[in-house]
Amino acid sequence: MKNENLMEKIVSLCKRRGFIFPGSEIYGGLAGTWDYGPLGSELKFNIKQEWWKTMVKERNDIVGVSASVLMNPKVWEASGHVSGFNDPLIECKTCHRRFRADQDEMIKEHEKFHADKKEKTVWTESKKFNLLVEAKVGVVEGEKNTVYLRGEITQGVHVNFKNVLNSSRLKIPFGIAQIGKAFRNEITPGNFTYRSIEFEQMELQYYVKPDKNESMKQYEFWKNLRLNWYKLLGIKPDNLRFREHKKDELAHYAKAAWDVEYKSPFGWKECEGIHHRGDWDLSRHQEYSGQDMSYFDEEAKEKYIPWVIETSGGVDRAALFFLIDAYAEEGERVVLKLHPKLAPYKVAVFPLLANKPELVKLARKIYDDLKKDFMVAWDDRGNIGKRYYSQDEIGTPWCITVDFDSLDDKMVTIRDRDTMKQERILISELPKYFENKLNV
Ligand code: GAP
Repeated sequence: MKNENLMEKIVSLCKRRGFIFPGSEIYGGLAGTWDYGPLGSELKFNIKQEWWKTMVKERNDIVGVSASVLMNPKVWEASGHVSGFNDPLIECKTCHRRFRADQDEMIKEHEKFHADKKEKTVWTESKKFNLLVEAKVGVVEGEKNTVYLRGEITQGVHVNFKNVLNSSRLKIPFGIAQIGKAFRNEITPGNFTYRSIEFEQMELQYYVKPDKNESMKQYEFWKNLRLNWYKLLGIKPDNLRFREHKKDELAHYAKAAWDVEYKSPFGWKECEGIHHRGDWDLSRHQEYSGQDMSYFDEEAKEKYIPWVIETSGGVDRAALFFLIDAYAEEGERVVLKLHPKLAPYKVAVFPLLANKPELVKLARKIYDDLKKDFMVAWDDRGNIGKRYYSQDEIGTPWCITVDFDSLDDKMVTIRDRDTMKQERILISELPKYFENKLNV
């Protein structure tokens, strides 16, 4: 959708309708943090559920873990994050604002800001800025230990490689999946939730034989699967592409990296990264912990440190891009054409008139029954047209109206969000009807 103020509209809709609020707002906020409201939490929950379904539930070769956010600080020395997880930082000597030295647009914007005031921008030399967020643990003041909030959720999986292997019957190739929060001291958080200091990741670490051909075959497979996942959940294909990282862009752990990018109102932006991590993580943990992290391949009768293909997506970025992609203005209505599987509410139930107890009673019964299986909204305010518009704006795919005929023929009107077409359905068939719609 071509729209100059699209981001402003999305941010305002998110606040007004309860998707996303600025973090700690009543205290003036905390830059780079966001709180998800009632609808935003549902959206995020649905994204994570779809991810888990694709990546764990429907597969025989992948299991999940949920590791601790706080880990022994040695983990982060071993993983290379203490020494290598840096962004280049420069500071404006005039106003002391800090920027990432590789963000040309923001730098130009800042130089223009000073130029407009007839000032010259003088930058400091670029220096390395470590992104790990520190925390203190322990009960005795002065004896507290510094730990790091995890900068990627990945390491919780790798340190448990042997635990998972020994407690399951998995054989290589196999994967371990995880969803959870990560934290980064981003120099310039921004573009709404796009770059935050606290965010959620959904990751797969897929362990393969240390073999070039085999690992590249898996790499291609996961790359394609991940881009397709966004398409299957409704992102317009033209708004998605791959981008390969150049050698000098690669993270310290990566042999190869391709991003799934989304065409956002602020340019093509990374949504998810697919990384070939080689044996980096397990070898380093073996070296730093002194524990054997190898795998014994029964078939080949050989012992080796597996290589890792990683898919690493951001839940918040996915939520943001799904919202942007779904946003449409059609005549008088604003509609979020979210995939029904992602929509916070699947159905809304309305009694035609709120002051007719027999209609309210039947509508309530339908609402209560459907609520056992689906997220259902209730609305009895204003007229039906306003209620439709209100549900369109939050992406509810179907609205049910209970009218006077319903009392006799036991049928209700279902209105479709996208086509705006209406059809009559037997009340007794509603659960099956929505189940079928949601399972296509
Ligand atoms: N374990 C690999 C890893 O963390 P990454 O490319 O640094 O790789 C993966 O991050 C994904 O996490 C990104 O594609 C993005 O979706 C999300 N992400 C990273 N930093 C983020 C931030 N500051 N705010 C929101 N999401 C972020």
